Amino acid sequence: MWHHPATRANVATLVDRGVTIVAPESGRLASGASGDGRLASQERLLGAVRRALGRGGELSGRRVVVTAGGTREAVDPVRYIGNRSSGQMGIAIVRAAIDQGAEVVLIAGPTVAELPSGCEIVQVESAGEMESAVGEAVRGADALVMAAAVADFRPRDASERKIKKQAGEDAMTIELVKTPDILAGVDGSRLLKVGFAAETDDLIENATVKLASKDVAMIVANDAVATIGSDRVVATLLFRDGREPIRLPESAKEETAVRIVEQVVRLLGEREG
Ligand code: CTP
Repeated sequence: MWHHPATRANVATLVDRGVTIVAPESGRLASGASGDGRLASQERLLGAVRRALGRGGELSGRRVVVTAGGTREAVDPVRYIGNRSSGQMGIAIVRAAIDQGAEVVLIAGPTVAELPSGCEIVQVESAGEMESAVGEAVRGADALVMAAAVADFRPRDASERKIKKQAGEDAMTIELVKTPDILAGVDGSRLLKVGFAAETDDLIENATVKLASKDVAMIVANDAVATIGSDRVVATLLFRDGREPIRLPESAKEETAVRIVEQVVRLLGEREG
């Protein structure tokens, strides 16, 4: 039915009138046949509604790059070094930015959370892949928000074959080398950089050091253990411009994401003002 000339003509008329169309998805249909005609997923419908309602928002005409999730550093074809990041915080920021009308590019490492709709998504696995994807995506972007939990080290040489246990060896050593610091490596003179600081000790002191070392306008400081993989977060926003830190109350990540995006709007405005 979706491909019937009459449907196509009617849909084209609606598009001409400015109506937003959420196309159906492919799969098994009620008739028993397979093809295009399934109701779009809730996430896609919500993504389309968000984009439509966000038009004219405070980030309309802005391009925002957000990273989310963890990274996986290959040890061999079946094993990797990873972390407990769920991707929820970054994805919540994507949604909050779309709500403000931004064109969003999400660079997603492996996540537990469902990927959002209404934005461009680049899926990556390792820190190296994330670095390339971020480098591409920030061209022409207004802001970069690095919410991803990027591995700091990777095995020097990933084995091409599955590593086998050796008889008589009770221990093994994997040599790790540093991954690139993606956030520090992006030129902050052309775009607004926002970082996260996940700490277990001396939260504010350590996060304040990262403000300068990564050359970012804002750092979202949070307790790594309490936050990673949780739905809720207690965060403090720290600013490079000397503005007083904002201590946010414990809230759902969606709520904190809205506060973060409000500051992105303010900082982008000030950069131009
Ligand atoms: N980050 C990055 N590239 C890395 C490591 C971290 O871009 N290789 C980014 C993270 O996405 C985050 C910020 O840098 O926005 C801080 O990450 P965090 O893990 O708190 O700090 P690290 O730089 O890894 O330093 P450390 O682990 O020593 O605290």
